[in-house]
Amino acid sequence: LMVPAPDPGHPLLVLGLETSCDETAAAVVERRADGSGRLLSNVVRSQWEEHRRFGGVVPEIAARAHVACLDDLIAGAMRDAGLRFEALSGIAATAGPGLIGGLVVGLVTGKTLAAALGKPFLAINHLEAHALTVGLTEGLSAPYLLLLVSGGHTQLLLVHGVGRYERLGTTIDDALGEAFDKTAKLLGLGQPGGPAVERAAMRGNDRRFDFPRPLKGRAEAHFSFAGLKTAVRRRATELVPLSDTDIADLCASFEAAAVDAVADRVACAMALSQARLGPDAPRRLVVAGGVAANRRLRARLDALVAAHGYTLHIPPAGLCTDNGAMIAWAGAERLAAGISDPLDAPARPRWPLDASAPPAIGAGVKA
Ligand code: KG4
Ligand code: ZN
Repeated sequence: LMVPAPDPGHPLLVLGLETSCDETAAAVVERRADGSGRLLSNVVRSQWEEHRRFGGVVPEIAARAHVACLDDLIAGAMRDAGLRFEALSGIAATAGPGLIGGLVVGLVTGKTLAAALGKPFLAINHLEAHALTVGLTEGLSAPYLLLLVSGGHTQLLLVHGVGRYERLGTTIDDALGEAFDKTAKLLGLGQPGGPAVERAAMRGNDRRFDFPRPLKGRAEAHFSFAGLKTAVRRRATELVPLSDTDIADLCASFEAAAVDAVADRVACAMALSQARLGPDAPRRLVVAGGVAANRRLRARLDALVAAHGYTLHIPPAGLCTDNGAMIAWAGAERLAAGISDPLDAPARPRWPLDASAPPAIGAGVKA
């Protein structure tokens, strides 16, 4: 299928679909010829209710829930944007990484729209979309250092440009959001666990328990949270039955240790980043993913960037968690770069941004 390339002098209007996990989302963005962006609509439906009684995301239920509501969300996004399908320059959908059933739902829907309309299709890497969101929210362009912290990923990446990512570090076990979620589950707090742990931590004493700061001081920018999780479990088990104060103190001490470990790993990545980019490169730290909403983490990173001469860039909370706007924007950026994807682009449950990065295990790191 041949589709005409969009006129580079004209603004691009892109519809983006996100179905890789437990949020169904559709959004429309505009990208002007000067590279600036505008959000025209952004509709998100969280499936948390469907998964609640299972205590985690069930892939089959997620896929069915995407099927049930994606068409309505697309109609809503187009209506909010005040656009007809014919006005779109392209259709973007998440192709990975994520749960295969959900990915297929979004991909097939996006491809069908593109084929029916004769418009370019864009198969988007979900991590790339998180990485590029600051281009939409504040016009920031590469290079910058990215801390991506979500329920499924914890990575430090050097963003050199659209499609050009260098991984500096990753987690060798749990993701940071996962550590928050598991802590919440252990302590009987609700899900999603991050906000629940944060709320409890606000009432707690963050120095009552001296939990480990995994990998602190290592020369590589990798993460590990399994040991921290085990330490929290051990202390909690010793204290049973837990009082409200115990729970608050465990949450506060866990959060302090996690944030401390992250700050140390980011400082390490700053040094690696400067060595790669040279001393005159701009010093910018971008944070994306659901855990970027955490206030203790933000405060800690605020202090860290100040100490290292960096500036800190965090999209608003609604664009840090999974959404369609980031997919639409990544699609617009690719389209502007002259890229589009074939209609047989596959779903990719695993899809690293930097395929050349060696696995973290074996890089001299121990949990
Ligand atoms: O990026 P996201 O919406 O979904 C993916 O995992 O892709 O991130 C969700 C994760 C969950 O683990 C959630 O517990 C965590 O982000 N999270 C938080 C906070 N808000 C969300 N973690 C700590 N503090 C928060 N305020
Ligand atoms: Zn995400």
